[in-house]
Amino acid sequence: VVLEQFTGMDQLEKQLASLFGIDRCLIVSGNSDEQEKVISEFGVLVEEALRRELPDGRNIIAVMGGTTMAEVARHVSPLETAKRHNLFVPARGGIGEAVAIQANSVSALMAANAHGEHRALYVPEQLSEEAYHTLLKEPAIKSVLAMIKEANCVVHSIGRALHMAARRKMSEDEIIRLKQKNAVAESFGYFFDENGAIVHKVPRIGLSLEDIQKMPMILAVAGGRSKVKAITAYMKNAPKQTWLITDEAAANEILKGN
Ligand code: G3H
Repeated sequence: VVLEQFTGMDQLEKQLASLFGIDRCLIVSGNSDEQEKVISEFGVLVEEALRRELPDGRNIIAVMGGTTMAEVARHVSPLETAKRHNLFVPARGGIGEAVAIQANSVSALMAANAHGEHRALYVPEQLSEEAYHTLLKEPAIKSVLAMIKEANCVVHSIGRALHMAARRKMSEDEIIRLKQKNAVAESFGYFFDENGAIVHKVPRIGLSLEDIQKMPMILAVAGGRSKVKAITAYMKNAPKQTWLITDEAAANEILKGN
């Protein structure tokens, strides 16, 4: 019940979910571009969604990085029950983020706050493709990768393509190619154009977009007017079981333009 009480934006949520053809949409009032507390409220909704929707038994929750996810992780509280045990893993490794917002750090924080278990993926963020292939043969890395592939839930954000490319220090050439291909959104290390088509992928390890197609529970968390294009583009081809957690500013703008 808390989810409904919390947002109280039934109509907007239904319209947005129907626009994207997804299972559910949760909207926090305000604009996360201007009000930090809106992102904390995303965290409260993520926690509530996990509490309500995760099945009993053993869950593997894959967590992506970014500033939104780092804030979300801070607001998760214990999710363990006598019947339910949660293991948190980073969803992907090596996409070039700073330490505090890497999927490894964010999933560790979420695990600690949720009183769950955590497995890190010990692969540096900046590494050549050749070195990656060698590391992939390491047993400790292989076993965490196997867990990631078994995840039944993923929590991730959606970013603006060129902003993400610059933040992750992608090369000039790559940035030029992203511009030529009209990339507007980024998620999971994939870049998308306005139609939601993949125009570039960062060849790194962990969950692929293909892996998430059949995942039972997917929470996508992103808001703010600045992310309207990115959210709209990514959500066009997002798996139907995705729940979008966003804010009023983004929701109104998306609905206005569609
Ligand atoms: O993949 C998307 C990005 O992680 C979003 O990053 O939350 O810092 O905007 P952000």
